[in-house]
Amino acid sequence: MKDEQTIQWYPGHMTKARRAMEADLKLVDAVCELLDARIPYASRNPDIDALCRNKPRLVILNRADMADPAMTRRWSEAFRARGLMTLETDSKSRRGISRFGPAVRELLSGKLAQYSAKGQVGRTLRVMVVGIPNVGKSTLINAVSGRKGARAENRPGVTRGKQWVTVDQGLELLDTPGILWPRFEDMQVGRHLAYTGAVKEQVVDQEELAAGLMSLLAERYPAVLAERYGIDCTGRSPWELLEAAGRRRGFLVSGGEVDLERSCRMILEEFRNGKLGRFTLETPQLLGEG
Ligand code: G4P
Repeated sequence: MKDEQTIQWYPGHMTKARRAMEADLKLVDAVCELLDARIPYASRNPDIDALCRNKPRLVILNRADMADPAMTRRWSEAFRARGLMTLETDSKSRRGISRFGPAVRELLSGKLAQYSAKGQVGRTLRVMVVGIPNVGKSTLINAVSGRKGARAENRPGVTRGKQWVTVDQGLELLDTPGILWPRFEDMQVGRHLAYTGAVKEQVVDQEELAAGLMSLLAERYPAVLAERYGIDCTGRSPWELLEAAGRRRGFLVSGGEVDLERSCRMILEEFRNGKLGRFTLETPQLLGEG
């Protein structure tokens, strides 16, 4: 697990992140706000509108390969209805990545027209990627720039200029993304971040978490549970369902009892690695509450 994922956000961290973002914002023409398409609300920084103020912004629904496609479309529409441009990507397999450059140019078409009116044809556009830890920022930066290796190290205390990576001629990305905090004070958001594996495992009780996920799946996707684990959800508590799934898989301990801990690990793992299918845990109605 990477360091970023283990960050616990304290007021000091948030102030630092905010300052870093404010400094970097001065250097760019636009911001790419990266979200996890499975949890677009939980993976969104609560202060992003205030932080970006009037910078043009492209909302990227990343991990679209793991989300429900119909829901991703609904989320895109909801953001567009709020005047934000959107892009759906799977940065890992590079799906949607070729639309990044055109989308940024469309976002900044006014600026490009101004440049061209002043005869400044070919002036470089600069953008930065921002998002919560583990949302896919580095993967996206590497995918759009075609870069393979790790990014240039940014050691604290060493003064150096900002590094830029080229997307294509006339378009550059800041090579270090802005790391922002999630809406962690909201319990539901915390659970969604934990189900998808965006927050550190040890900070949440795994059995409670698995029961919560089971209850959500039983309510919204009973057919998935029936198909994958051969269990009927009707009238059963999440604990009974976890037990039934474990029994089905043969996770037994001495005396014929089900190894509940193992069942819990299994459901979380299979959900996170996409074995259960593609899911979106949140609806765009939440945007109205944001
Ligand atoms: P960060 O910079 O925002 O912290 O995130 P990072 O790019 O490191 O990505 C976190 C994990 O998410 C990586 O997996 C990465 O491969 C995966 N990922 C990023 N974008 C996508 C996407 O669009 N779809 C899918 N399915 N996965 C994505 P990892 O397990 O840490 O590494 P690896 O095993 O993939 O190399």
